[in-house]
Amino acid sequence: MAKLIDGKAVSAKVKAQVRDEVSALKEKGVHVGLAVVIVGNNQASRVYVNNKKKACAEVGIESFEYALPEETTQAELLELVAKLNGDDNVNGILVQLPLPKQIDENAVINEILPEKDVDAFHPANVGHIMIGDYSFLPCTPAGIMELIADTGIDVCGKKCVVVGRSNIVGKPMAMLLLHSNGTVTICHSRTENLKEICAEADILVAAVGRRDFITGDMVKEGAVVIDVGMNRNDEGKLCGDCKFDECAEKAGFITPVPGGVGPMTIAMLMKNTVTAARIKAGIA
Ligand code: GUN
Repeated sequence: MAKLIDGKAVSAKVKAQVRDEVSALKEKGVHVGLAVVIVGNNQASRVYVNNKKKACAEVGIESFEYALPEETTQAELLELVAKLNGDDNVNGILVQLPLPKQIDENAVINEILPEKDVDAFHPANVGHIMIGDYSFLPCTPAGIMELIADTGIDVCGKKCVVVGRSNIVGKPMAMLLLHSNGTVTICHSRTENLKEICAEADILVAAVGRRDFITGDMVKEGAVVIDVGMNRNDEGKLCGDCKFDECAEKAGFITPVPGGVGPMTIAMLMKNTVTAARIKAGIA
């Protein structure tokens, strides 16, 4: 039976470090602020944004919320981002995705100054991550690396399988595992023999967005299983991409949903916001 990886506990440790850093910066007269932009009425986005604001309050970062209506135009959103780019009280800008269909997400991401891009979604920051020389961590993958470290298992030389190839999770996840000398396979909806490939993984990261996608027969005995999924079951309860009971039977370590990866994403966002403030103030 797998041990649970406690994302709440690991994220609390990261946030405690961030809180100390924020107060040390305040003593030096350096302000730390994060602008959080939400467009429209997506219920899940509303919950994530509230959690991000709550985390800011916990660690002493000032948050500025901009809630725009569903019918906001791309030009209006770009105008807001340009204003935030020029605002000295704002070190980090986070535009919650997804955006309403009339807005091109890439156009918005491209508009955010790379030095304020605390999601690390801007192509300049993605490029830095690709070459392994970066200040901003891709939040969810970096949080997952912390969770893997918490198990005491060294990624070096391990077979790592990432299921999902999104720009937010799958692709940067593969890069971070590679930087830690893992042997990495990325799988997706067109992958043949998915079950066999997953069943060879020492570290299996499920970032598919479909509940019950990873079943017990896809998990190697003793593997580390990281479930990035945030799905709802028929009763509206939050659940991951893994059939939890079956996977936990085989795995050595597994993340729960909720209480696994989710809290880590937010903790790493706090860390990136402090990094942005530090870089702006010229404090390494
Ligand atoms: N939507 C889902 N995850 C994220 C994230 O990490 N950042 C932003 N901006 N939007 C998201």
